Amino acid sequence: MAQIFPKWWNQTPGLALFGTVVGGGVATFGLYWYGSPWHTDVGYKPKQPIEYSHKLHAGDLAIDCRYCHAYVERGPHAGVPSTQTCMNCHSQVKKDSPKLPPLYESWKTGKSLEWVRIHKTPDFAYFNHSAHMGVGVGENRAAIGCETCHGRIDTMEVVAQNQPLSMAWCLDCHSDPAPNLRPVEAITAMGWKADLTWSEKARHIATTLNPPGSLSAAAKRGPNGELLTYATAGCSGCHR
Ligand code: HEC
Ligand code: HEC
Ligand code: HEC
Ligand code: HEC
Ligand code: HEC
Repeated sequence: MAQIFPKWWNQTPGLALFGTVVGGGVATFGLYWYGSPWHTDVGYKPKQPIEYSHKLHAGDLAIDCRYCHAYVERGPHAGVPSTQTCMNCHSQVKKDSPKLPPLYESWKTGKSLEWVRIHKTPDFAYFNHSAHMGVGVGENRAAIGCETCHGRIDTMEVVAQNQPLSMAWCLDCHSDPAPNLRPVEAITAMGWKADLTWSEKARHIATTLNPPGSLSAAAKRGPNGELLTYATAGCSGCHR
């Protein structure tokens, strides 16, 4: 992983210094923050080697996301399923489907299907699924649902990117995670909504969390909620 942020970065006292060092000043950061020209590919929807439908499998058949994305709670990457996982059913189901020959070909040759990657953060930004699948401790345990970052996958015939995955997007949630928290049992639920009791609990849980770049780390807001200073201490959480 490219280390573009040196160790001293962690000790940087404030945004002002960041501005001086980079040379462009605060305006530069404003551009990163609001303009975020990198990877704004909401809607990206490449053609896949098989016409695999989430609407059918995750929606109609209600197969849990983790049956196929098995690493999502254990590591940085959710992972895509192996041919074997599909074959658990398709060695029997729909054997004569005109859509499935590439699957059987992959099974026969042992060559993996080349699923086209859709969601991708650049190498210099660290993302970890498992860190979002269970946050807080004990009584104050909660999670971020797949739906919050990927949309209603259970209704998509073809998966499309649903959120910008920009730095501003990460930080919007990190500075106020409460509205996006849900019970751990509801990680993969689609269409889940908080009731009043949960919303209050989530407000409390959020005060126990400290995601990188969160306002609790050091940033301050003005009277209208505008960002005055930003916590540089949080940069190294995502730029390691
Ligand atoms: C039966 C297996 C299966 C199930 C169940 C399943 N998926 Fe997938 N998923 C796949 C496969 C195969 C791909 C790669 C092809 C594609 O993008 O459609 C994929 C791709 C994805 C992607 C895009 C990955 C990328 O490249 O960025 C997301 C996001 C995703 N799944 C989320 C979910 C969620 C959320 C659920 C549960 C609601 C779910 N999946 C259920 C098999 C599955
Ligand atoms: C838990 C069982 C199960 C798993 C796992 C599973 N499928 Fe399916 N799949 C089904 C069922 C059931 C159908 C629908 C059969 C029907 O329409 O009657 C289906 C239908 C399909 C179809 C549509 C076939 C057609 O002709 O309409 C495709 C394509 C497909 N699956 C691909 C995949 C791929 C690729 C994987 C692995 C990523 C996978 N499936 C994993 C059960 C499964
Ligand atoms: C906090 C936001 C967030 C949540 C919650 C989330 N994802 Fe992701 N997901 C991302 C981001 C960001 C990427 C791109 C990551 C990268 O490039 O390393 C991604 C990539 C993926 C990918 C493709 C690359 C990989 O990691 O294998 C799959 C599949 C996926 N997510 C499935 C899921 C499933 C299933 C869930 C719920 C169990 C889920 N995600 C929950 C943000 C999220
Ligand atoms: C919808 C809300 C949400 C979004 C979007 C989100 N996060 Fe988070 N993230 C959280 C919460 C809540 C935590 C706090 C975890 C804790 O305190 O245990 C967290 C924690 C983290 C951590 C700390 C993990 C650790 O090992 O300590 C990293 C790194 C991180 N997020 C990176 C990202 C990146 C990069 C993105 C954007 C691509 C992103 N997050 C998007 C809610 C979110
Ligand atoms: C919550 C995680 C997170 C935190 C905290 C964070 N960033 Fe980022 N940053 C990202 C992600 C994700 C991207 C990539 C955005 C994209 O692909 O559009 C990014 C991109 C950038 C870029 C653009 C690099 C380039 O040339 O493309 C710069 C510069 C940057 N961040 C600086 C900072 C600074 C300075 C801080 C501290 C004030 C910071 N980041 C804190 C997640 C984070």
